[in-house]
Amino acid sequence: MYKTKYQENCEQYHKDIVDRFEVAKTVDKFWTKDEIQTLLEYQFQNAKRVKASATGSNIQPVVAINDLFENVEFVEKKFKELLGDYAEEHTGNFYITTQPHDCHVDLLTEQECIHDESRYNMYKNLVPWKSVVMPLFITHHPDEFTSTAFMKQRRLGHSVTFDRLGDSAESDYKLAKTYDGLVDILGEPLDGEHDYNDWNNDSFPHIDKENFRGFGIETILHHKVGDIMLFDACQVHASMNNPKFTNWLKNGINIQFYKEV
Ligand SMILES: [Fe+2]
Repeated sequence: MYKTKYQENCEQYHKDIVDRFEVAKTVDKFWTKDEIQTLLEYQFQNAKRVKASATGSNIQPVVAINDLFENVEFVEKKFKELLGDYAEEHTGNFYITTQPHDCHVDLLTEQECIHDESRYNMYKNLVPWKSVVMPLFITHHPDEFTSTAFMKQRRLGHSVTFDRLGDSAESDYKLAKTYDGLVDILGEPLDGEHDYNDWNNDSFPHIDKENFRGFGIETILHHKVGDIMLFDACQVHASMNNPKFTNWLKNGINIQFYKEV
């Protein structure tokens, strides 16, 4: 079976990756108002194209995230202060959406990691480390209007959407129909069939109960413009619905940080 170099790294450096696992947290007031405005405008001024599909309510201005670090001085400066050493290559995207997302991990897709016979690939020396989600704009903006559930489960490897039923809208992410390879914060294997009874229809109407089985909530963080959510890039997460608000739109960026091996 074809295995990407990145996938091999995840296996070879499993212990190093796991040793860096931590509980998800919010970094309050990470961005100033002016910085938020700069980032907000950046997506519209620098998008090469726009990804949108008729089956989903999610628009992505396609911006090279590596360029964002080069072009916007305060981005590199602030993340270096917060995180220290990380690889120059990032993945991630801007999102403008009216749709809560299902259980997934944002990492490198297989497509992004395919290498030629010389095994050249810009991501070949990377292992996953941290992800950040940074809200830029949220309608209805009372605090605690929108939140994300970070699961106990982590999964080393490529980006996946967890979907036993296989009816997710098309995306670049592979659909995981069997929930294999899940580990906890200590790297101990977890049973992907275990029911943690954390699903309820108010919080997760967008996720079929059948697809939620295998996941238990570790942390819930609220989206607030100016704050960032920092979590293990391997950590499974999903949007939570707030039944009090039915019409909303949110805009933000998600970025992955990798370590070099
Ligand atoms: Fe995500």
